[in-house]
Amino acid sequence: MGMGTEPVEAQCDSLDGRVYLDYNATTPLAPEVAQAVWDAMCQAWGNPSSSHPAGRKAKELISSARESLARMLGGRPEDIIFTSGGTEANNMVIHTACRHFHESQHRRGDSQGTPHIVTSSVEHDSIRLPLEQLGREGLAEATFVPVSPRSGQAEVDDVLAAIQPNTCLVSLMLANNETGVIMPVAELSQRVRVLNQRRAAESQPRILVHTDAAQMIGKGRVDVQELGVDYLTIVGHKFHGPRIGALYTRSPGTATPLHPMLFGGGQERSFRPGTENTPMIAGLGQVSWDGQGEWCRPSTETAICGPWSSEGTNSGCGREGELGKFQCQLKETFWGTCCRFAALTITQLTWHTALRGDTDLALAVPGWAHSPGTMHRWRCPRVTGGACLCVFSGCRVSEQELGGL
Ligand SMILES: Cc1ncc(COP(=O)(O)O)c(C=O)c1O
Repeated sequence: MGMGTEPVEAQCDSLDGRVYLDYNATTPLAPEVAQAVWDAMCQAWGNPSSSHPAGRKAKELISSARESLARMLGGRPEDIIFTSGGTEANNMVIHTACRHFHESQHRRGDSQGTPHIVTSSVEHDSIRLPLEQLGREGLAEATFVPVSPRSGQAEVDDVLAAIQPNTCLVSLMLANNETGVIMPVAELSQRVRVLNQRRAAESQPRILVHTDAAQMIGKGRVDVQELGVDYLTIVGHKFHGPRIGALYTRSPGTATPLHPMLFGGGQERSFRPGTENTPMIAGLGQVSWDGQGEWCRPSTETAICGPWSSEGTNSGCGREGELGKFQCQLKETFWGTCCRFAALTITQLTWHTALRGDTDLALAVPGWAHSPGTMHRWRCPRVTGGACLCVFSGCRVSEQELGGL
């Protein structure tokens, strides 16, 4: 059964000819995902805990979504716990690390001490705010390692230097939601692994490693084996999926601790109880099934063509020569980040490219006036005629995070 007479894509598109580039805030649902959600709503409405056919059907759908998500990330299905979103997954990791710290201290006969967590200064609020709250309550300490003003990265040496005897968690996002800068998570995990061997010999608590991959999945390769992390946060709506999330945990409850924040009906092996949101899980399974970077295949190849000019300032871009300079600046600015469109020329930037989410939004260019906390809106006349407005709303850029551009 379909959702209506129009294709799902047309029903979901409300952009009125405008190009949406605010992919770090959220992405439009892929048509096949919308269809999968609808199908599950209509056909798999049973309670997955029920043993009758309607329940079994829902349970099977959830199992298959879990398998798809695990396959996409290089993990095992039993390592995936579905959550309401990234906020919950991130909070769960922090909660777990603190609980685990206290439990291991208790086992050693030492109930003193406060857990310490190392993170970067540019993490999402769902990492920063719980840590600040725990700090205010005296339940945990946190060190927020500043990012390099040159690269925008949290340097591995700086993160390691912040580790203390009571450190129980290092949490470093995989890609930043404002700048797109990719953090050296694989190297960090590897160095923490070596450090953990030494700490075990000295009876110090194990340091768990978490990465928030919300902004990387769908834009670049994410493989939990390569990253070597204990936990990884997944946020469906950042890669054309529905508004739920998941937490990857390497063998939860055995190799890696995982403590629930909620208690209830035993779903998700009691790590995250509550009757499963089957339609959204099915949608997440669908988007994962399509594989990383393959979600949106070319459809509308309408070229967006220069000249581009900003509403606020018109310096730096506009005519042929300036456009070339702009392309150069983009490449330099975004080299090594997950802003893949920087490698393209503006005239090659197509609807399709924009809709694929290859773009990050930190479009602050050297020499162009921009103020922290605001973002330009760019007019981009299309070859087909008619002005369209690129929407950069909700995007914040700070000078520091852009490496002092
Ligand atoms: C890096 C990062 N982590 C976590 C989240 C939280 O995701 P949600 O708001 O869907 O819970 C976001 C969302 O903006 C994000 O960008």
